[in-house]
Amino acid sequence: MKELIETLYKNKDLDGGGLKLLIDTEDTDLLYEKAVEVRRKYYKTAVYTRGLIEFTSYCKNNCLYCGLRADNKNLKRYRLTKEDILSCCGTGYEIGFRTFVLQGGEDMAYSDKDICSVVSEIKSRFPDCAVTLSIGERSFEAYKAYREAGADRYLLRHETADEAHYKRLHPENMSLENRKRCLFDLKKLGYQVGSGFMVGSPYQTIDNLVSDLRFLQELRPDMIGIGPFLPHSDTPFADREKGSLKRCLNLIAILRLMFPYALIPATTALGTIHPLGREMGLKAGANVVMPNLSPTGVRKLYSLYDNKICTGEEAAECRDCLAGRVRSAGFELVTDIGNVKKSPLADIDTA
Ligand code: 5AD
Ligand code: SF4
Ligand code: FES
Repeated sequence: MKELIETLYKNKDLDGGGLKLLIDTEDTDLLYEKAVEVRRKYYKTAVYTRGLIEFTSYCKNNCLYCGLRADNKNLKRYRLTKEDILSCCGTGYEIGFRTFVLQGGEDMAYSDKDICSVVSEIKSRFPDCAVTLSIGERSFEAYKAYREAGADRYLLRHETADEAHYKRLHPENMSLENRKRCLFDLKKLGYQVGSGFMVGSPYQTIDNLVSDLRFLQELRPDMIGIGPFLPHSDTPFADREKGSLKRCLNLIAILRLMFPYALIPATTALGTIHPLGREMGLKAGANVVMPNLSPTGVRKLYSLYDNKICTGEEAAECRDCLAGRVRSAGFELVTDIGNVKKSPLADIDTA
C-alpha cells in the first residue's frame, strides 16, 4: 500500500487496479497523512467556508435517490423570495461568509431573469463576495446569462460517470450526456466549476468509482464534492444501504492526491453519516465546509436524505459550532472569498 500511495503522491495518477486497492484500503494512516501534507502545501491550515442558501425545494426532476424529487408528494415545498435570499446573505456577511451558494431543485418558477436579478443584486451589495449557483442542468444561454449577471462559480455533481449506472439512478428523461454537456459549457463560460459524486449510491461498483475519478481528470474541476449516499424514506431507494464512511474518506484523500489544488468540502452528508464525519473529512484532505444559511424555518424541508444535521441551529450558532469542529481537527476556519489556488501550470498541475 505504501508504494501505491507514494506513486499517487508523486504522479497524481495511478492505474485502475491501484486506485481500487486504495479506495478500500484499511491502511489509512499514511494515505490521510499524505493527503493532509498536500493540502497544507497549497492551503496551509485554512478551511474555507461557504454559506449555503437552499432557496427552493421545488424540483421538476425525479432522481431516484433524492427526497426533493417531483413525485415525492409528502414534502411541504417552499420558495424564498429575492428579499429572503438577500437577507440570508446580509446575515451571512456579518458573521464572516464571503461566498454564497444559491442551491435549489430545478424549479422553473424562477425565470432566468429572476436568477440573474438575484445574482446581480448580491454582487452589487457584497462586491467582495463570490456567488455560486447550484441549480442543475440549464442551457448554454442560461448559464451565459447567469455568468454575465455576475455568478462566479457553479456546482453540478456528475453523480456517476458510468452510463448504465446513471440510468439506474435517474428517470428516462435525464442523461449523463447532457450532464457532461452542462459541465463543459460551464467551464467554457469561465465559471469555477464544481462536480462530484455520491459514494455508495445503489448499484455502484468499485469500477464505477474509478470511472468517476477518470471523468474528473478529464473535466479538471476546481471544486469536487463527494458524500455518502443516504436513503430518504419517501424515495424508491428508501430501503437501500447507506454509503460507506470509510470509502468516502479514502476517496477524499485520493482526490486530494490527484487534484492537489482542488477545493474539497467536508460535506453535510458526511456529518450526517457520523457525528464527527466532517472532522474526519478534513483530516483526510478536505478544505472547505458549507454551513447552512437558510432560514431555520425551512431547513428541514430541504430534504435530500433523512436525518440531515444542522436543521435547528441559527446561522451564527452553526458557524461557531463548525469553527470549533474545524479547530478540533487541527485547522482554522477563515473569512476569505476562498478562490481556488492555481499554479501557472494549472492545467497540468490539477490534472
Ligand atoms: N444521499 C446523499 N446525497 C444526495 N444528494 C441528493 N440526494 C442524496 C441522497 N439521498 C446529493 C446529490 C446532489 C447533491 C445536491 O446532493 O449528489 O448533487
Ligand atoms: Fe432535483 Fe437535484 Fe434532487 Fe435530482 S438531485 S431530484 S435534480 S433536487
Ligand atoms: Fe451546524 Fe454544528 S455545524 S450546528
